[in-house]
Amino acid sequence: KNSFSIALIAGDGIGKEVMPEGLRVVQAAAKRFDIQLELKVIDWASCDYYAAHGQMMPDDWKDQLAGCDAIYFGAVGWPATVPDHVSLWGSLLKFRREFDQYINLRPVRLFEGVPCPLANRKPGDIDYYVVRENTEGEYTSLGGTMYAGTEREIVIQESVFSRFGADRVLKYAFELANNRPRKHLTVATKSNGIAISMPWWDGRADAMSAGYPEVTMDKQHIDILSARFVLQPTRFDVVVASNLFGDILSDLGPATTGTIGLAPSANLNPDRRFPSLFEPVHGSAPDIYGKNIANPIAMIWSGALMLDFLTAGQGAGRAAHDAIVAAIEDVLKSGPRTPDLGGDASTTELGEAIAFHVAKGANHFSL
Ligand code: NAD
Ligand code: IPM
Ligand code: MN
Repeated sequence: KNSFSIALIAGDGIGKEVMPEGLRVVQAAAKRFDIQLELKVIDWASCDYYAAHGQMMPDDWKDQLAGCDAIYFGAVGWPATVPDHVSLWGSLLKFRREFDQYINLRPVRLFEGVPCPLANRKPGDIDYYVVRENTEGEYTSLGGTMYAGTEREIVIQESVFSRFGADRVLKYAFELANNRPRKHLTVATKSNGIAISMPWWDGRADAMSAGYPEVTMDKQHIDILSARFVLQPTRFDVVVASNLFGDILSDLGPATTGTIGLAPSANLNPDRRFPSLFEPVHGSAPDIYGKNIANPIAMIWSGALMLDFLTAGQGAGRAAHDAIVAAIEDVLKSGPRTPDLGGDASTTELGEAIAFHVAKGANHFSL
């Protein structure tokens, strides 16, 4: 198959600025490697839509998206007008759950040419994947408030960990580690403090490790693990974490590589029963929206992950992915850069420079 349908959801804030650049690069790669893309622009799943309709999405959202091969997604959230839990549970978090995107794969990589906030680190020192559980764990709407408004107010927020849910994300992480040269998996835990779910989670990891004799595994409590992301990043190869721990690690990791503006993510339904969703790790960034200065690389790299996943890591999609990543690398070395990278280029300029590389197959940046 070399023809795919992709739903485009720009969302809010800088989602609307980085989407055109991501698309520009994805289309350049599709053209060069002869991949047919049928694009379906979705004008809902945004806080603007909410303002007009009182909900984030139309009632038939699932029917409208279910036939797509993938969803290419910018960012959702505009807390000035819609509370974040309303906009996110009404869109992105619904997609992750109802399309069973149980893996959130988030690569973390230090690129040549990007100033690293950690002393004496070079490309290669920071190069790992965060595999985040994406459908359960700490993210739930289970619980409630008692004695609201009184001095005895009590709030309960439940977590959910299922054997099915833990085992499938652990299995994915072990498989990924097994296919990497270093074959090392770090399991994020907090079994000292979170006394029910986390000792159990560690036990599921131990059980899964029996099937992967070549993978070395270490368990680290989330507090020291976070410290080591900063102090000893070379220790990490693949890191598997619950939903909330994975969320935090996947902002911290990219921060150590200079900016969160280049971190991509793939929300995967590996069974391919439902569309998978590809988006930057970052959000709608209201503080910089409207200036055309957002870094589009997270969006662009997410597009590369999408093309790779669509062709199951083979053939034209893999070639397109590799060409996009090579173009990102080249432009980061010597091309224009947005302010988060220390430059003064615009979102559009960076997108155009990367698309130019992809289209030409150029090895060095020049205009
Ligand atoms: P954020 O990621 O939007 O922004 C955090 C900081 O990083 C800001 O200072 C911002 O300017 C900067 N930043 C983010 N992306 C950047 C880019 N591409 N280039 C340069 N700088 C960039 O996080 P936040 O401020 O906590 O959230 C803002 C809104 O986005 C909220 O509504 C939040 O719920 C939502 N959000 C959505 C997603 C998503 O859709 N996947 C992810 C995170 C946050
Ligand atoms: C992310 C985001 C989301 C999350 C928010 C917007 C609900 O931070 O994709 O990392 O917490 O999963
Ligand atoms: Mn996050």
